[in-house]
Amino acid sequence: MKYEALINEARVAQKSSYAPYSSFNVGAAVLTGDGQIYKGCNIENSSYGATICAERVAIGNAICDGKRELLAIAIVGGEGFSSDKMAIPCGSCLQVMSELCDDNFEIVLCEGEKIKTFKLSELLPHRFKL
Ligand code: THU
Repeated sequence: MKYEALINEARVAQKSSYAPYSSFNVGAAVLTGDGQIYKGCNIENSSYGATICAERVAIGNAICDGKRELLAIAIVGGEGFSSDKMAIPCGSCLQVMSELCDDNFEIVLCEGEKIKTFKLSELLPHRFKL
């Protein structure tokens, strides 16, 4: 399967999720143009608005390492560390993807063994851009 390694890294990242308030544990992994993978997990805060999603942590890690070509992101998550429900990215994460990724950026979602892939343009068809 095309994104097997990426999904596996998202599952590894999910294990590091810090989500004591929601118990909703999310892991993400971004594939960059040079074939590297960058992981992220959600990091919650007692001041709830300071929480950051797994997708944005993964994208931030790639950007901070100098990567600008982002090809795909795999996301796994749900209630509990071993949850396997489909975790659709929130609007803020889609907006961050919209800033840094093109329309063909692929969003790979998992539910157990089932995998669904969307283009960014499908999940955010009308994007805000300056
Ligand atoms: N969360 C993510 O990590 N990614 C999303 O796209 C949606 C939500 C996290 C944030 C919070 O820690 C928990 O899931 C419940 O909202």
